[in-house]
Parts: sequence; structure tokens; C-alpha cells
Amino acid sequence: MSDRALTVELEHHAYPIYIGSDLLLDDGLLSRHVMGRQVMLVTNDKIAPLYIGTVQRAFASYQCDVVVVPDGEIHKNQQTVLMIYEALIQHNHHRDTTIIALGGGVVGDVTGFVAATYKRGVRLIHIPTTLLAQVDASIGGKTGINHLGGKNNIGSFYRPHAVIMDLNTLKTLSLRELRSGVAEVIKYGLLVGGDFLALIESFLSHDLIPLNTDALYLLIKQSCQIKAEIVQEDEFETGRRALLNLGHTFAHALESYTNFERWLHGEAVAIGLYCAALLSYQLNLITMVDVDYVDALLKRAQLPRRIPKDIDIDGLYELMFHDKKIKNKSLRFVLMKAFGTCYLDETVTQAQLRSVLLAVIE
Ligand SMILES: NC(=O)c1ccc[n+]([C@@H]2O[C@H](COP(=O)([O-])OP(=O)(O)OC[C@H]3O[C@@H](n4cnc5c(N)ncnc54)[C@H](O)[C@@H]3O)[C@@H](O)[C@H]2O)c1
Repeated sequence: MSDRALTVELEHHAYPIYIGSDLLLDDGLLSRHVMGRQVMLVTNDKIAPLYIGTVQRAFASYQCDVVVVPDGEIHKNQQTVLMIYEALIQHNHHRDTTIIALGGGVVGDVTGFVAATYKRGVRLIHIPTTLLAQVDASIGGKTGINHLGGKNNIGSFYRPHAVIMDLNTLKTLSLRELRSGVAEVIKYGLLVGGDFLALIESFLSHDLIPLNTDALYLLIKQSCQIKAEIVQEDEFETGRRALLNLGHTFAHALESYTNFERWLHGEAVAIGLYCAALLSYQLNLITMVDVDYVDALLKRAQLPRRIPKDIDIDGLYELMFHDKKIKNKSLRFVLMKAFGTCYLDETVTQAQLRSVLLAVIE
């Protein structure tokens, strides 16, 4: 499959998203968006043995340096940022260097933050290697690291110059990680409804996990298109972009409560999507048939949908009030009036929230 590009059109900046198979073998494509003669490849110790050699080959005639950071969300922090700055300084990278993030959302977020701040901003290319990073994290320009004070507490918006998604990289991804990415695809399906939701349903009804390359291509391309359109309209999340947080107020609380150790992000989002559907039902926005549909879709993707009994609902409830999406002290939820018609609601009462959380306990 050859590369096919989408474009994210922003004010004074546009960047292509290439999606296809064997793109990492295409030296011309990899070097097309590099301007100077210096490249810094950033990846982690799990991905380096799999793909770094292939990417390095494309830059044989450049000064191409590599920094391998430790794998894992716990390393999405200042130490890793410093490690990358030090590699850039040690190898004397100039303002016209290009930094390439090769990895999942963690590598992408940290590297994006470094690119935004090194020499006040240098060229950035994302090569996302997880489904979650391909459909979500690599598009839209959010970069950042975690701090004891909270997830993604330090960061910036920074536009990449290109995003290159090689579907072959998903072949080495664990099924659990793949399913986690499918949760975000289902989120897009619920946000836009219609044909895209039907497409997701049809793929999942054939037990297509792991999905074949053609199915993945369609799901990734359409997910990217949806995100790109929303980002084009509201890059800095002053309005509509917040809809992409469907299920996330619940998900972030579940992740924080369990110290980011129990669920992958997409798994927490899956539970959050079910919670959002049930909350929408309790507010008489959608029917129980709709809630069951969401439940069935997530179940087919083999994703969790319920809050385990050992989670203390009071503790979870407290955490939700600390979610950074709280505006003016009221909790902010993305709710569904129908599949394809979601909106931001700040009127959910504490009693309504509590009732949903209790109903979602397994
Ligand atoms: N910037 C954004 O807009 C945005 C959006 C969504 C999520 N995120 C962030 O993304 C992160 C989650 O991303 P993720 O789910 O990709 O997690 P991740 O980056 O931790 O990757 C998951 C695991 O898969 C491994 N891996 C990556 N690619 C692989 C491959 N091709 N083969 C085998 N293993 C591979 C990684 O090393 C890691 O162990 C979170 O930190 C989240 O906050 C950012």
C-alpha cells in the first residue's frame, strides 16, 4: 500500500499525515520534511531494536544522532526531557535541526515538548508506532510531560512538520495495546456517528482483532480526518476540540486513582465511554438501547466497561473534581444526545454523577 496523505491546515502552517505500509522503507519520504543536515531521532528502549535501524538508514548522508529514552509513562517527565536536551547539546544541534519522534504517545509527547523548547523551537516529525498515537496523540500538536502535580501538567501546543504512520509497525504491537487504540477509534465513532460508526461496528462484528491492514488503514485514516477537522477549527481547545474528551473525565480519574498502573489509557477511556453513555441515558438524552449498543461495541473490542468493585467510588469522585477540565468549579462532561451529536455539559449534579458511578460498578 503506498502512502496517502491527509493535510492538517492551520493558520500559517499546514502539515501532512502519511498513512500506509512500508513507509519506513521510503527514504525519500522520511527525508522530505527535513530541512537542514542534522537529525535527532528520539525513541525508547523497546522500539529502538525494532525500528531505529530502518529509520537511520534514510539519514545515512546526514548527521543523524539517536537518543534512546527509557520506556513507559513513568518516564514521561523532566529527566527524559533533560536527557534529550543533553543529547542535542552534546551533538551540537543547531536551530535548523529536525527532531524525529519514533514511538507511541509517550515518546511523541516528550519529544514534541523538547522540539517546542529547544532553541525556541525546531522542526518536528512524528512517526507514531502505536494505534493510539496514530489515531490521536500524533495529531493536533499537544505536547507535554507529567509532574507529581498531575498528568500532562507541563506542556505546550507545538505543530509538527509531518506525521508518518507506517501500518507495519502495528504488527509488533501487543493485542492489548492495539485494543487500547481501538477505544479511541470507538470514541470518534460515537462523536460522529453515521457511516463511520457503522464501519467500526462492521469490522468489530467479524472479530477482527487483530484487524487486518486494510481495516486498520480505513479506521486510522478516518479517525485522523475527524481529529484533523476538529483541530483545524479549534486548535487551542477553546471550544469544539473539548468534545474529543468524550469519556475522558471518567478515564483520567480512573487512571489517577490507580496510579496509571491498572489500565492502559484506552482501556480507561473504554470504561469512561460506557460511563458517559450511562450518564447521557440518566439525563434522558439517549435510550437504554443506545447504552447497550456502546457496551456491545466495547465488548466486541474486548475492552473493559465496568469499574471494578475494589475501586472506592468516594475516592474516585473526589479525583474527578481535580480533573483539569473543570471550569468554574463545575464538572464538565461530554454527553451524547445521539451518536454523532455530542455536546459539553457543565450542569451535571454531584448526585447524578454519583448515581452513574454506582451503576457502573461491576
Ligand atoms: N498529545 C496528545 O494529543 C495525546 C493524545 C492521546 C494520548 N496522549 C498520550 O499518549 C500516551 C499514550 O500513548 P500510547 O498508548 O502510544 O503509549 P506508549 O507510548 O507508552 O506505548 C505503549 C507501549 O507500546 C510500546 N510500543 C510502541 N510502539 C510499538 C510497536 N510498534 N511495537 C511494539 N511495541 C511498541 C511502547 O514502548 C510502550 O511500551 C499517554 O502519555 C497520553 O497522555 C497524547
